[in-house]
Amino acid sequence: MSPINKSDKIFVAGHRGLVGSAIYRQLQQKGYTNIVTRSRSELDLSNQANVDAFFDEIRPDCVILAAAKVGGILANDTYPADFISDNIAIQTNVIRAAHSYNTKRLIFLGSSCIYPKLAEQPLREDCLLTGPLEPTNEWYAVAKIAGIKMCQAYKKQHGHDFFSLMPTNLYGPNDNFDLKTSHVLPALIRKFHEAKSSHGAEDAPVTLWGSGTPKREFLYVDDMADATVFAMEQPSDKIFDVAPDGILNIGVGEDIAISELAELIKSVLNSKSEIVYDTSKPDGTPRKLMDVTRINKLGWNAKISLEEGIQRSHQWFCENYLSTT
Ligand SMILES: NC(=O)c1ccc[n+]([C@@H]2O[C@H](COP(=O)([O-])OP(=O)(O)OC[C@H]3O[C@@H](n4cnc5c(N)ncnc54)[C@H](OP(=O)(O)O)[C@@H]3O)[C@@H](O)[C@H]2O)c1
Repeated sequence: MSPINKSDKIFVAGHRGLVGSAIYRQLQQKGYTNIVTRSRSELDLSNQANVDAFFDEIRPDCVILAAAKVGGILANDTYPADFISDNIAIQTNVIRAAHSYNTKRLIFLGSSCIYPKLAEQPLREDCLLTGPLEPTNEWYAVAKIAGIKMCQAYKKQHGHDFFSLMPTNLYGPNDNFDLKTSHVLPALIRKFHEAKSSHGAEDAPVTLWGSGTPKREFLYVDDMADATVFAMEQPSDKIFDVAPDGILNIGVGEDIAISELAELIKSVLNSKSEIVYDTSKPDGTPRKLMDVTRINKLGWNAKISLEEGIQRSHQWFCENYLSTT
């Protein structure tokens, strides 16, 4: 029996973001009738008093915490203080309020960067805190680890049904296509699209950061939303049977070299651009592949292929991003 009913109040924090908007769509499609959302201007989650007042008024039955300050290597490197303090403030306020106002279930979204830089691949949930982090985003990673530990602590001290999902790299509708702050996949879709020439001229070259050798795993965001709602509907004992530490990786279980990803995006967009590598830029972690044994054991698997996901993301980019910028 799912602990969350179709008429329960489900607060999706960060519902306008890449992940939050996909979860909102998924909950609607699955017939949940009482989805609660607030934009940042309506409710700044870094403000504790406002968060408490919101919980006191609404008393949500379930919280999906998809609000956070998120960004690529450049953004993490430029704004480390914001990444650690904003994320710790947001998650502390929401998790504490969920305790104070007896929320039935809370799902905290972390990220694969919580795992040690040189941990054995694929990354198992129990390798957490067994080695040094990737320096380029350690502030964000430490904040996320604090969130995971808070969920564990509130379960241990108060028996709360709070647990964490660790998605791999996500992409899809509502992604960030700003070349200064985006992740690699949306950046490449935009670069190849903008390099395409008109009137028969040569497509311009596309420059990639680094050597192209790092391997990454990519999950289409609607698959992530499907996994989140699937986990939300699982009885607590099933969740903590496969994940005694309350951590579940969400991924595809296979990765791809950045150079291969660039070739795939080039072919999906039917581009003729030459690919150039700027090796003066950092590569980041050499490999980051999630071990998805636990979530597969619970009965969930990714469904949307990388090629299909890139096609859908490019279509969304053309119909939404380009038409609004
Ligand atoms: N993107 C990925 O590849 C990825 C991978 C793994 C894990 N995750 C995790 O997934 C979660 C969501 O990430 P995302 O990619 O969906 O990020 P996103 O697109 O940037 O969405 C984040 C959302 O949080 C909201 N937000 C940020 N600070 C807030 C505040 N102080 N008060 C209220 N709302 C606030 C933002 O509001 P505005 O719309 O007003 O800015 C935005 O809607 C994060 O926890 C992240 O760690 C993401």
